[in-house]
Amino acid sequence: MGFPAVYDNIVLIGFMGSGKSSVGKMLARQLFKEFADVDSIIEAKENTTVTEIFKTKGEAYFRALEQHCIDVLTQKKGQVIATGGGLPIYSSISEKSLIVFINADFDVILQRLTKRERDKRPLLQDEARARAMFEQRINTYRQQATFIVDANQSIPTFIHMIRDFILDQRVL
Ligand code: S3P
Repeated sequence: MGFPAVYDNIVLIGFMGSGKSSVGKMLARQLFKEFADVDSIIEAKENTTVTEIFKTKGEAYFRALEQHCIDVLTQKKGQVIATGGGLPIYSSISEKSLIVFINADFDVILQRLTKRERDKRPLLQDEARARAMFEQRINTYRQQATFIVDANQSIPTFIHMIRDFILDQRVL
């Protein structure tokens, strides 16, 4: 029998607007873990919004910030970490992370987002391009996941499923 895996952190991945940040906050509270949100940490450090960073410094600069941020965060343990939708595409995530893919259909995501939430996301402005990006990214999300949750269900329902899975694992 193999030695059971012990994970340092829980990392939530998935497409823009799939609910990683709000789900992450609730999950962290329920599991008595710290919550960390990569986009918010970057915005606080750069003292501006993700939209502004994309506009003034460009996407490559933002991707470098993301890689640095997840590297620093995963040196610690015991957190639920929400990532931006592009992070698992452009950055590597420590192997000691339990990665949960919040898997919602593109149309479900669009329905859930308010206009304000859409406006915050530069890569979501053109719906056809965003849909194509969703199709391109989904396989990478799947490949990286330790656990995939069907996020087309109500949020409390799928949070429950994530929690049940995690409670069976060893997460420090
Ligand atoms: C991005 C997703 C955003 C944010 C940035 C780029 C992406 O985060 O990091 O706008 O490439 O998918 P959310 O997934 O929280 O919207």
